Amino acid sequence: MTIKHFLQFKDLTREEIEYLFLRARIIKERFKRYETYHPLADRTLVMIFEKASTRTRLSFEAGMHQLGGAAIYLNTRDSQLGRGEPVEDAGQVISRMCDLVMIRTFEQEIVERFAANSRVPVINGLTNEYHPCQILADIFTFIEHRGPITGKTVAWIGDSNNVCNTWLQAAELLDFNVHVSTPPGYEVEPERAGLFGTDHFEQFSDPMEACRGAHLVTTDVWTSMGFEAENDERRKAFADWCVDAEMMSVAAPDALFMHCLPAHRGEEVTAEVMDGPQSVVWDEAENRLHAQKALMEYLLLGRLAS
Ligand code: CP
Ligand code: NVA
Repeated sequence: MTIKHFLQFKDLTREEIEYLFLRARIIKERFKRYETYHPLADRTLVMIFEKASTRTRLSFEAGMHQLGGAAIYLNTRDSQLGRGEPVEDAGQVISRMCDLVMIRTFEQEIVERFAANSRVPVINGLTNEYHPCQILADIFTFIEHRGPITGKTVAWIGDSNNVCNTWLQAAELLDFNVHVSTPPGYEVEPERAGLFGTDHFEQFSDPMEACRGAHLVTTDVWTSMGFEAENDERRKAFADWCVDAEMMSVAAPDALFMHCLPAHRGEEVTAEVMDGPQSVVWDEAENRLHAQKALMEYLLLGRLAS
């Protein structure tokens, strides 16, 4: 069997992503009914973190336990990874001792080099360029609340970062539109985003215009992990890119608000929107668990009949 990795959103086909949404729903329903479901008994997930995490670590670790397997946490500080062992060697060794690997790191190239040397599937748990597991959960959340996302418009306000790039890839795959508004100098770079074209997104200099008529408004921190040196400069540049009630008022009347979290109220989003009635951020965070359980099950067992 060829190994399937999930290093960026477009590594899976539209059909596979839609299958994952179906499985996530089934797995979530079973979990809510407290049904034991252990398809990954005796399987081991290794989680490698080179950046901080709450949600990603917790959802992968809890998810693997709930599916009957075990999860092992490694970080750069107290493994040989932080002491210069080549990523290719780490890929060879780690993948001989487990069934699945999740990595959160800096450049996308690192997960690609690891995966090229891995005997087991590798999942991107966030890189500078992409955050595919987040968007899997976000779209699953949208579907739960509003039905299919095909043909809908998502407004992305703020930095054209890893989460934004992944929304753009998902838009191409699942056929919806993204309106992106960034400050000057922070625009989307289609090549870095790994896009096939520019048909599924439009850039707006005015965030209000990007939000107009959108079915979902979403944002993220102004400064992503690894870019802390740019913090002061970014705070000035992004000051007008705060999702507020006025932006939500020009979106579709039933528009949702999402944020991958952690959020900074008063920076990229006001407390009023973050904690308001259109916000589904807690469902979104919870769905990391269910969506990733579906992903791990699929990467290890393939398609299941029930
Ligand atoms: N959204 C997200 O990936 O959160 P963590 O950084 O806490 O994992
Ligand atoms: N764009 C953010 C997402 C954190 C989950 C970062 O990379 O830090």
